[in-house]
Amino acid sequence: MSVSVRIAAPADGPAIYRAWAAIREHYAATDGRVVNAPVGETEFMAALRDSIARATSCTMVAERGEVLAGFISGGIEQNQPGRLPERHATIGYLYVAPEHRREGIGRQLVGALSAWAAKQDGVDHLEMTVLARDTAAAAFWRSLGFAPFIERLWAPLAGGES
Ligand SMILES: CC(C)(COP(=O)(O)OP(=O)(O)OC[C@H]1O[C@@H](n2cnc3c(N)ncnc32)[C@H](O)[C@@H]1OP(=O)(O)O)[C@@H](O)C(=O)NCCC(=O)NCCS
Repeated sequence: MSVSVRIAAPADGPAIYRAWAAIREHYAATDGRVVNAPVGETEFMAALRDSIARATSCTMVAERGEVLAGFISGGIEQNQPGRLPERHATIGYLYVAPEHRREGIGRQLVGALSAWAAKQDGVDHLEMTVLARDTAAAAFWRSLGFAPFIERLWAPLAGGES
């Protein structure tokens, strides 16, 4: 059965919420420094509805038959002040259900979001963050032509000593 990708609707919310919860668990399991704040389905649904209504955001779902096999969310964000171009596209979340991985769905979702982004004014590239410890995700992104750019560093504070 082929996979179809379309813009998400509010009715997709419960299925996207379950997938989003799975990504967050994946992040926390990949690196213990990721601590997820509790976000209930009602709060998530309100944020999803806002995001669907916003012209600069995009959420898409991949369906195999009636089943949500994956989703992607992204949008357009401003560059740092003083750096051109002024805007670029970003990917916030990308998830493919484990039983549907390595079927090209992740690639298809990124392609669909990229096609949406390419239609936005003044946008010609993507920038996004990936956990440094997520070697599988890094291999996926590299296979799509993404390359490391800016590195985000992390350190605990010394704790009260001055
Ligand atoms: C990363 C993820 C989105 C990939 O989705 P997918 O549908 O399985 O990816 P695709 O089938 O489109 O893979 C495209 C190519 O990426 C590479 N790739 C994908 N998963 C890989 C893995 N686990 N290890 C190594 N390379 C991988 C391969 O080159 C693959 O092509 P191939 O299957 O012909 O070899 C999916 O594994 C996932 O949802 N992971 C958990 C959440 C996550 O990591 N999200 C991204 C966070 S930044």
